[in-house]
Amino acid sequence: MTARITGLGTFLPAETVTNDDLARRMDTSDEWIRSRSGIGARRVGGRTAQMATAAAAEAMQQAGLTADQIDFLVLCTTTPEKTFPATSALVADALGLRCGAMDLNVVCAGFPYGYVTAYGLMLTPGGPERVLLVGSDAMSSIVDWDDRSTAILFGDGAGAAVLERHPSQGELLAADFGVNGELAPILYCDLGDKIKMEGREVFKRAVRAVSRSVEVTLEKAGLAPTDLDVVLPHQANMRIIEAMCDRIGIPLERTFNVIEQTGNTSSASIPLAMAAADRAGALAPDRLVLMAGFGAGLAWGSVVIRW
Ligand code: COA
Repeated sequence: MTARITGLGTFLPAETVTNDDLARRMDTSDEWIRSRSGIGARRVGGRTAQMATAAAAEAMQQAGLTADQIDFLVLCTTTPEKTFPATSALVADALGLRCGAMDLNVVCAGFPYGYVTAYGLMLTPGGPERVLLVGSDAMSSIVDWDDRSTAILFGDGAGAAVLERHPSQGELLAADFGVNGELAPILYCDLGDKIKMEGREVFKRAVRAVSRSVEVTLEKAGLAPTDLDVVLPHQANMRIIEAMCDRIGIPLERTFNVIEQTGNTSSASIPLAMAAADRAGALAPDRLVLMAGFGAGLAWGSVVIRW
């Protein structure tokens, strides 16, 4: 048994904040932000449940499925609406689902973790046949809009995928996961507070961790970096993506990126990149697709699948 992705959906809130908008309220510039991060604009004002619901509804529609046909919901999010219930319960209600639903928080590395969680559930005897996997984050709600070292980087958005059992297509070839909790102090957000980050340290550690993780995953799968057709890296910083590709030997043009228009949308960034790859016609059966996530923890995770 395998589990192939049969529907994708995305949602970005309407309100756009450009680099020039930021430069009007803090000491920064479009040139500085673009050259350091590759970001040109970001969306703000989103709510996690509402964005997740919109992206999920689009993915279900693309898969041709109604609410009663979804057997499980996994919602990856860093910005839950409440301490409880889980935000997935609110999304399930909005979509009319009555199946199992859970939140999963591995911050910006969430989506690859969510993918193997969904895949593993589907392999369980009597487990779900169709899983809705969503990444949704309202990072604008935890950004300090007076802190130029973080405000420039983050944005809101959601991306969703429907996984369905299939006899052969959509094989998970290999994965690698890890966390180094000693590095929690370099990127964190206390309850009720705003994001705190040592940018340079995060940059260095993230490149190292995600590159190593991808190498381990490729080794497990018996693949060379150049075998990969589509690379979907977490969209934190274009320079991190370039450094990762350079280190591993992945041609940069195999990566699909949305960061210029979205900034770092945490759990939503990989499914947003996946939808961009789909729109470009890059996701065809048998293509080798890599998802590579990293984020606060420091946590990392990479997965390679045969589409
Ligand atoms: N505009 C203009 N100048 C800024 C600025 C901004 N928005 N933010 C910081 N600066 C200044 C600093 O104050 C510093 O000035 P100084 O040399 O006079 O002290 C200078 O620019 C360099 O700062 P530094 O933090 O070393 O810059 P950098 O090249 O490392 O770029 C980041 C900063 C945040 C873009 C970069 O470190 C980064 O992207 N790190 C990873 C963050 C990340 O991806 N987090 C999420 C992980 S999931």
